[in-house]
Amino acid sequence: MAKRYLIAGNWKMNKTSGEAKALVEGIVAAVGKQTSVDVAVCPTFTSLETASKALAGSSVKLGAQNMYPKPSGAYTGEISADMLLDFGCTYVVLGHSERREYFKETDEFINEKVKSALSAGMKPILCVGETLEQREGGSTIDVVSKQVLGGLKDVPASQAENVVVAYEPVWAIGTGKTATPAMAQEVHAEIRKNLVSLFEEAGNNIQILYGGSMKPENAEALLKEKDIDGGLIGGASLKADSFASLVNTAISLSK
Ligand code: 13P
Repeated sequence: MAKRYLIAGNWKMNKTSGEAKALVEGIVAAVGKQTSVDVAVCPTFTSLETASKALAGSSVKLGAQNMYPKPSGAYTGEISADMLLDFGCTYVVLGHSERREYFKETDEFINEKVKSALSAGMKPILCVGETLEQREGGSTIDVVSKQVLGGLKDVPASQAENVVVAYEPVWAIGTGKTATPAMAQEVHAEIRKNLVSLFEEAGNNIQILYGGSMKPENAEALLKEKDIDGGLIGGASLKADSFASLVNTAISLSK
């Protein structure tokens, strides 16, 4: 099966809702009609409603950046899967390295969120990746495999088609340093093995995104690699023209 790309923008803690509206409108005007590549934007919770309205009728999907695994109740400050669905979210980014680092999220907790998102009918984008220290210490594959297997523990193969994994080497995020295509492919191939060990044939169809300073200048070489099925984009997703350029690169590689 030919691969289908997903280009997803993780806006992190950026954009007021007015700014979000303008950005979504720019993205929709540029690439909102094409259907050969999956495209998603993931604004902050406070901009989800505005973004949802601005992308209505386009092929651009909405995602959130986090959620809490419980369905409802006394969890002050948290947001459930059903609340995200209510705004039309298709995706939810889970286990981003910034959440692992600053909010001490563990594989167990991330796994609860992944299962909760899947049960609600959303597509989790499970983020994994090693720190510079771990890479230099030679433990990249062990670290990433543990995060993949831990994050997807007890997910039934019947739900594999809704899983997305993003490999984001921590040392490449927001630093301007990118993994070379060969370095990224090496880890993606290991992630693919993990996914096949969990889900058999269905693991071959799971989209594995690369994230970490992906931008128009380096996207084509990364996206051409066998197991790189798209990008999770931070900085370059905050401007409509650079984000659209990444989508267009994926479109041209899909032909
Ligand atoms: P940058 O593209 O800014 O490096 O961010 C990557 C990222 O963390 C996406 O989730």
